Parts: sequence; structure tokens; C-alpha cells
Amino acid sequence: MDKSKRKVVIAGNWKMNMTPSEAKTAVAETAKLTDSMNGCDVVLCVPFVDIASAVEAAKGTNVKIGAQNVHFEAKGAFTGEISAAMLLETGVEYVIIGHSERRQYFGETDATVNARTKAALAAGLKVILCLGEVLSERESGITSEIVSMQTKLDLAGISAEDMKNVIVAYEPVWAIGTGLTATPDQADEVCGIIRSTIADLYSADIADATVIQYGGSMNDGNAAELLSKVNVDGGLIGGASLIPAKFAKIVEAAQA
Ligand code: 13P
Repeated sequence: MDKSKRKVVIAGNWKMNMTPSEAKTAVAETAKLTDSMNGCDVVLCVPFVDIASAVEAAKGTNVKIGAQNVHFEAKGAFTGEISAAMLLETGVEYVIIGHSERRQYFGETDATVNARTKAALAAGLKVILCLGEVLSERESGITSEIVSMQTKLDLAGISAEDMKNVIVAYEPVWAIGTGLTATPDQADEVCGIIRSTIADLYSADIADATVIQYGGSMNDGNAAELLSKVNVDGGLIGGASLIPAKFAKIVEAAQA
């Protein structure tokens, strides 16, 4: 297993936080604090209405902007939805798909996650594909089966070529926003299971090149240890990404 084939990606998921003017300030502050930290990619995934001000504030910096969802159809009568082409034109490079909050509260299924992923990749966006087990699944000892099933269903029909633009974020649902974090060994083990599923679906080379992040209460205190694990290639950070100083510390931990 050669981690050097992969660039570490530290991404913030702001969820439903920050107005456009707050976003402008927070992106600028994050960019300033992470200015010289070129050892990883830095992404902030912001609410749709914040994209314009976030993209503007990120111009000329090493911060890249992402969205938090995308619809699978190109256009039409889908009130409240946003297409991949719309995102692309606003300057977004990344999009989160399949976050557990969308699966839990908004009826997202592996089939819709797969359709959204295909649409985003076809448009030229980079996808941060989220998956992970809920607490009852972990307690039943079926984490491995759950994450490998999600990996297979979510990536169904996605070409080897398109995998270059897919990041997988392993987010155990029980660790999101709870202050509970998977231990570095647990995170490494499950990211490894996802990687071997990708090897089965594609090839060992593609599995070795795929960035797999950990998400779930990652913060400036635990990031270094989590990121030291061979299968953990970055983080998807919720709460701590809202505070530029904390997020910058996580980016700093990823420089090693
Ligand atoms: P927290 O870092 O707040 O636990 O959120 C993780 C997450 O859901 C990132 O997508």
C-alpha cells in the first residue's frame, strides 16, 4: 500500500451554516491561514446561496469551493433542485453527494446517490461521495458488509477513468456531530475495506490512487493521528470547518 500515490484532501462541509456575507469572511480567513500549506488540497463545501461569495473570496488562493448536493437531471421541472451545469458555471469544483444527513432526512438512497454521482462526473465536477454505517449496524458487526455494499451500489456504472474524480468519504453516522470519533484504527480499517472493494470493482492501481477521507468529529486535536493512518487520505470536517483557526490547524496536521 503506497500512500504517496494520493494527495491528501482536507474538505470542510459547512452544512446549513453561514450567510453569504459570513461565507465571504470565513473563506478569506481560511485562505489566509492556510496560504503556505501546499501539502494537501483544501476545499470548503458551502450552501448553494454562498457559492458566489465563496468563489469570489477564494480567487487566487489555494482554497477550492464545493457544493453540498446536485440533482441528477440536467434541467426541468424539479423545484428547488440545482443541476451540475449550474454548479460548474458558478465556479464550483467539488460536490458532496450522499451525505448521511441527506440519506437520513431527505430520502436519499444508494440509487439516487449513484445517479447524482454520474451526473456530476459527466459535467466535470469532482465528487466527494459519502458513505458509512449507522450505530446499530456497527453494533451488529456488519460494518464491513454495509460499507462495501454502499461502495458497490454508489459506484455502479462509473468508469475507471471517472474514478480519478471521485473521493470517497467514510463517515460513520454515529460519529457525525456527536463528538464521538472512530479510533484511528477503526477509521483505517474501514477506509481499507472501501479501498479493497474499489480494487475488486476496478483494479489495485485505481484503489491505490483513490483518495479516501475520514469524517466524523475530526478536529484539530485528533486530526494528526487519524491522518497518520495509511488508508486515511484526508478528512471531511463539519463543525470544526466553521472556525477558520480550527480548520487551518487540521490542514496544518495534514502537511506532514
Ligand atoms: P462533524 O465534523 O461535525 O462531526 O461532521 C462530519 C460531517 O458530517 C462532515 O460531512
